[in-house]
Amino acid sequence: MTDQTVSLGVEGSNFNYPVLDGSVGPEVIDIRKLYGQTGMFTYDPGFTSTASCESAITYIDGEKGILLHRGYPIDQLAEHSSFMEVAYLLLHGELPSNKELNDFVYTISRHTMVHEQLATFFRGFRRDAHPMAIMCGVVGALSSFYHDSTDITDPEQRMIASHRLIAKMPTIAAMAFKYSIGQPFMYPQNSLSYTGNFLRMTFGVPAEPYEVNPVIERAMRRIFILHADHEQNASTSTVRLAGSSGANPFACIAAGIACLWGPAHGGANEAALNMLREIGRVDRIPEYIARAKDKNDPFRLMGFGHRVYKNFDPRAKVMKATADEVLKELGKSDPVLDVAKELEHIALNDEYFIEKKLYPNVDFYSGVILNAIGFPTDMFTALFAVARTVGWVAQWNEMIADPEQKIGRPRQLYVGATQRDYIPLDKR
Ligand code: SDX
Repeated sequence: MTDQTVSLGVEGSNFNYPVLDGSVGPEVIDIRKLYGQTGMFTYDPGFTSTASCESAITYIDGEKGILLHRGYPIDQLAEHSSFMEVAYLLLHGELPSNKELNDFVYTISRHTMVHEQLATFFRGFRRDAHPMAIMCGVVGALSSFYHDSTDITDPEQRMIASHRLIAKMPTIAAMAFKYSIGQPFMYPQNSLSYTGNFLRMTFGVPAEPYEVNPVIERAMRRIFILHADHEQNASTSTVRLAGSSGANPFACIAAGIACLWGPAHGGANEAALNMLREIGRVDRIPEYIARAKDKNDPFRLMGFGHRVYKNFDPRAKVMKATADEVLKELGKSDPVLDVAKELEHIALNDEYFIEKKLYPNVDFYSGVILNAIGFPTDMFTALFAVARTVGWVAQWNEMIADPEQKIGRPRQLYVGATQRDYIPLDKR
């Protein structure tokens, strides 16, 4: 709390609202008493100027391109940390000691298998079902398997549910991929790293041993870290809102998966690679830039722009460097990467993109790497969901433990019909 207040004059009366400050970033005006005092609501579709909660997990400065997880810069975590260490950091607030990390990895690895009955849920999907449709259904179904850890008021049971979700998401995502190509599901192998285990469940087959490629393992680890959490984005806000009613945590994460699927959000990684492939050649870029600028054309440059980053997305910088590294280390080239780099160059020198502060975001380059590793495009958002689960469960725990937390229930500006009497059918 600061000693500042903001005053609002309404019909001759003055109302003062306290200004709250955090450890860094914009101060907030505490308007919780506004409606009671003035009979008015604020109006902020898309919540462009609204803080929905207090959080200590992730800080973003959109102007400076800063992204901190519990204070640690994303580029340092991507370079030096592991995905399990980042998961621990997001959940518990501090980097773990060696013992804490080993215990955490051991706990997570003991939850990687799913109930054998869960495999039957896949049979109901068509083989060509989108992996995100499968993830929504199967993760939601997990809520019917764990009645012993659904007392969300018990921190111990909340942590069991969190561990189960972090551990099982890679298994379920790999099963969704296997189901789509008609191959048998692979059981987890807990001697492998979290990322290595995921790669083996995805690309391994029972008929032969699978060697985890360290280059690909390192790239996947970095991609998972870059996608782990991102403040109060749409899917995280969905998980918080679902959780605010006391809903089952597995159902809350299924709601987050549904929201992430949208092309304006996590679905942009799939849409961005499809767009780059459609552009196909550098000489076709101007045609697409023109379409992106045309108000009458719904086309947007996928992987470009961000609600918060108005300078650059620090994750996109790391992702771009990783794309170069992975292709080089795998001895692969991809004309799509050349198109992406040239598109970025042209866009960043174009008045429209400069004026609207549109830069590549986390989704612009990730598809090039995932494609080089061998994932089909429709698996990209499922991978995003695997990584973002650690952020979702950290934010869900923080919300449940917040003494100020209450069920989320926004109001509206009503523009519909005012009261009128019913007209009998024979009078219409
Ligand atoms: C993610 O919130 C998060 O943190 C999300 C995320 C995370 O980690 O959780 O970072 C992950 O979702 C990244 C964003 C992925 N989405 C895309 O790449 C889809 C393409 N981008 C856009 O749809 C858009 O930029 C958004 C949705 C990302 C942001 O939209 P905003 O903040 O609501 O901005 P806007 O739509 O109001 O756009 C502002 C202006 C508009 O023009 P005007 O109405 O002012 O004339 O910029 C234009 C838009 O038309 N614009 C674009 C554009 N993005 C915005 N024009 C062309 N191409 C684009 N990509």
